[in-house]
Amino acid sequence: MIDPMIEESTNLPTLKRVNKFSVKSGKMSPEQLKHSLLAIKNYFFVALAIFCFSLTPSISQAQPDGEKLFKSKCATCHKANEKKLIGPGLKGATERLEMEWLIPWVQNSAAMIKSGDAYANQIYEEYNKVAMTAFPELKDEDVIAIFAYVDEVNAAPAAGAGGGVVAIQEPQEPANNSWIYILALLVFGTLLYILTRVKGGMEYAIREKEGIPHPEPMTIKDSINSWISNNTKVVILGVIALLVMGSVDGWNRLSGIGIYQGYAPEQPIKFSHKLHAGINKIDCQYCHSGAEKSKHANIPSANVCMNCHVAINEGPQYGEEEIGKIYTALDYDPETQEYGDNPVPIQWVRVHNLPDLAYFNHAQHVNVGKIECQECHGKIEEMEVVAQHSELTMGWCIDCHRTTNVKMEGNAYYDELHAYLVETHGEEAQITVDKIGGLECAKCHY
Ligand code: HEC
Ligand code: HEC
Ligand code: HEC
Ligand code: HEC
Ligand code: HEC
Ligand code: HEC
Repeated sequence: MIDPMIEESTNLPTLKRVNKFSVKSGKMSPEQLKHSLLAIKNYFFVALAIFCFSLTPSISQAQPDGEKLFKSKCATCHKANEKKLIGPGLKGATERLEMEWLIPWVQNSAAMIKSGDAYANQIYEEYNKVAMTAFPELKDEDVIAIFAYVDEVNAAPAAGAGGGVVAIQEPQEPANNSWIYILALLVFGTLLYILTRVKGGMEYAIREKEGIPHPEPMTIKDSINSWISNNTKVVILGVIALLVMGSVDGWNRLSGIGIYQGYAPEQPIKFSHKLHAGINKIDCQYCHSGAEKSKHANIPSANVCMNCHVAINEGPQYGEEEIGKIYTALDYDPETQEYGDNPVPIQWVRVHNLPDLAYFNHAQHVNVGKIECQECHGKIEEMEVVAQHSELTMGWCIDCHRTTNVKMEGNAYYDELHAYLVETHGEEAQITVDKIGGLECAKCHY
């Protein structure tokens, strides 16, 4: 018996295209088969196009990074745990306070104090009317992300706390969610494979029906080549998608990821620059003696601490506890004043850290350039805990080289060069660092 639909459609060729849904097993004409193949292929292109374009916004509108925001905006004044810094420790803030209160507070605490909010005024008094910075640039979801990060830190078990020595922790790279893209690619790969198989099966059926001989099976290389030439659209879309992903990723890297401004890790000993360099006015280079004459400023060894702490065994804030850790590190017994033979070096957590590809030299800047430590490190002498003040990006280095004059007067090293530069740039010209080659790639990159 002949299917009436097919009968009809063969009589009326113009209707064929509408008939794709009448395709039933074994009952379709070769034309219909080819048509369904085309339809499937088109669906596939649409799906692929949607996939490509959905990738772009999902990368560029990435979730606000609570950790980065906390470290860059809040960590100078708040700890994520319960300890006070300049403001209260933020641990448990989301339990004490509603998000409806926290968001406007962070965006503009002064306005809330002015509005007469009882709690805002209470805490403001409690902290001796120290004003918290306003953050109008933070969106609601940024503030939510910051507190989500704070809660996350407190949920994690405290690592190595309590003991005198804490392992060096490298700053964490922001969480990387490339697995989503790998998963998506896997799903599409599978889909592509299934579609290819279905298409192959249908072509086989067509040849069977029309009595066309089947071609020789192809080698993998040939079949890949033939797939590429038959699916140029897919290939082009794929390449575009990869380029877009690559450039978005590259842009993200260049414009923020890897910047640890505000990074202020907890140290194994609560060493305070405010107490030593600020209140007691100890010269930076008493401890960081390398800054004047070498590449590294260096962190002082525990022996340097002992110059004073043989005599000073009690501090104003922590009594004997924190100074005691110096003794533990040196295996020193303050009672007998004797050193044991089991010293354990203090594992200070590194704050500033340029990638290996960049060359930075302290002596060049401190000694030759006559730049104050504070220009790059901020007011260290006011910091209870050292926080990274500058971005430490290439743009930061270069901006300064473009705008800072080289101090040549009274510097014998420069006498000849100075004369030459004045000759080439004129007497009035500002001789900034870029004029002596401070923008040359090789000066900062090995
Ligand atoms: C310049 C220092 C400073 C910075 C930066 C800062 N704060 Fe504050 N913060 C304070 C001070 C001080 C207080 C105590 C209230 C007062 O004196 O205004 C406070 C209070 C708070 C409170 C109330 C806590 C409680 O337990 O009652 C929250 C929440 C808070 N800050 C969140 C933040 C967040 C989030 C950021 C980063 C976006 C931030 N702060 C940045 C200084 C700062
Ligand atoms: C009594 C010794 C002492 C004095 C004085 C001192 N520092 Fe430090 N400094 C340390 C120690 C110890 C550390 C490591 C622990 C820490 O980061 O707090 C350190 C860390 C630092 C760091 C961070 C290093 C890193 O890991 O990236 C900087 C920057 C710094 N000091 C700058 C200064 C400046 C600027 C001054 C002067 C205003 C100064 N220091 C005075 C002992 C000292
Ligand atoms: C021109 C900017 C600049 C100036 C000025 C400067 N530093 Fe640094 N400092 C840096 C950079 C950049 C790093 C990170 C270096 C690295 O990772 O290799 C750093 C790192 C440090 C460190 C960590 C240990 C090390 O040597 O890498 C200490 C300590 C330090 N500086 C102290 C000082 C002191 C003290 C002064 C003043 C005498 C000073 N710095 C002046 C830019 C500067
Ligand atoms: C040039 C002298 C000097 C040197 C060097 C020195 N300190 Fe101190 N330190 C002091 C003085 C002064 C005090 C404050 C004592 C006081 O006020 O009672 C102090 C206090 C302390 C405290 C107690 C803080 C408190 O509030 O309880 C600690 C911890 C400390 N120093 C750690 C160190 C470490 C670690 C080093 C070596 C990297 C070091 N100090 C090097 C002079 C020094
Ligand atoms: C606060 C301003 C400032 C910052 C920030 C700064 N520099 Fe410099 N830099 C100078 C000055 C001033 C000189 C000139 C010193 C001299 O007289 O030789 C200089 C010189 C140099 C030189 C030698 C250039 C030459 O032609 O001899 C190098 C290399 C250099 N800086 C690398 C860096 C790097 C890397 C960074 C960032 C991590 C950086 N600088 C950040 C001010 C700065
Ligand atoms: C004044 C010093 C300085 C000069 C001049 C300089 N760079 Fe850099 N460059 C840096 C520093 C510092 C970093 C590391 C910054 C960071 O980690 O954010 C860096 C990073 C880079 C990176 C890696 C970026 C990344 O995200 O990993 C590249 C690529 C680079 N520089 C290329 C160049 C080229 C090309 C030139 C010459 C046109 C040049 N740099 C000149 C200081 C400099």
